[in-house]
Amino acid sequence: MSANLIVTAADGVVTVKMNRPDVLNALDGEMLRALVDTLQPFDRDPECGCIVLTGSEKAFAAGADIREMNEKSYLDAYHSDFLAGWEAFARLRTPKIAAVSGYALGGGCELAMMCDIIYAGRSAIFGQPEIRLGVIPGMGGSQRLTRLIGRAKAMDMILTGRQMDAQEAEHSGLVARLFDDAALLFETQKAARIIASYGKAATLAARETVNRAEETSLTEGLLFERRAFHALFATQDQKEGMTAFLEKRPARFVGK
Ligand code: CAA
Repeated sequence: MSANLIVTAADGVVTVKMNRPDVLNALDGEMLRALVDTLQPFDRDPECGCIVLTGSEKAFAAGADIREMNEKSYLDAYHSDFLAGWEAFARLRTPKIAAVSGYALGGGCELAMMCDIIYAGRSAIFGQPEIRLGVIPGMGGSQRLTRLIGRAKAMDMILTGRQMDAQEAEHSGLVARLFDDAALLFETQKAARIIASYGKAATLAARETVNRAEETSLTEGLLFERRAFHALFATQDQKEGMTAFLEKRPARFVGK
């Protein structure tokens, strides 16, 4: 396990805290490998129902590691398909919640947007400041930010490099819920435990169908949703969930 990550697991929730305080959790190749290598086995584990990704009070992550990038040539970046590896994190199928305090800039904002939900502390600051470094977002910012908050605000942020505070981020649809900083991790883990308590097949299907909405036409998306809905009738958890409702008792999902 990498020294850059602090990992804990309980009640079906794995919590990963990025831990490079000297550089405000700047994202380098080692952090990417550590995150993916740590999380892929949890992703395959049916007992793991939700992932929480967090940083420090000062920074979720202040972006891709500028020291690592500084000397790269175009061919270094092109041949290694620099930053493409981060999509392995986005592709994890288990729901991921980013709990953001402090700076989520550049790659930090993009990493938060690779998560399915962003919860933020009131100190959170989002931004895509790459233009100030002579580049543009490279981990999905131009695409995911535009889909999440719309063209007007995404273009404003990416062209000016300005920061967006937590309140604006919530109003803009980037952040699902705002909490006091001191309560952020507790509240995020509480929501994660709720997500982890449901049948995993339904959870995976719910995530896939919502994500499909960004990629497809309404007609195709509705068909995809209906087929996924139909498929869940093959699970024990559907029988349990509906029977429990009718018997007026809590459901006991078994992930089958
Ligand atoms: N990469 C490498 N090191 C970083 C870093 C980064 N992205 N962000 C901060 N650090 C380092 C600083 O160099 C500094 O190190 P030293 O103590 O050795 O000087 C340390 O972290 C603390 O940072 P500051 O002294 O700058 O702290 P601050 O409180 O004054 O400012 C900040 C905080 C506003 C976040 C400022 O650090 C900053 O602007 N960081 C860079 C943000 C940025 O431009 N991010 C985008 C990177 S490019 C990218 O992400 C491309 C992409 O799309 C993937």
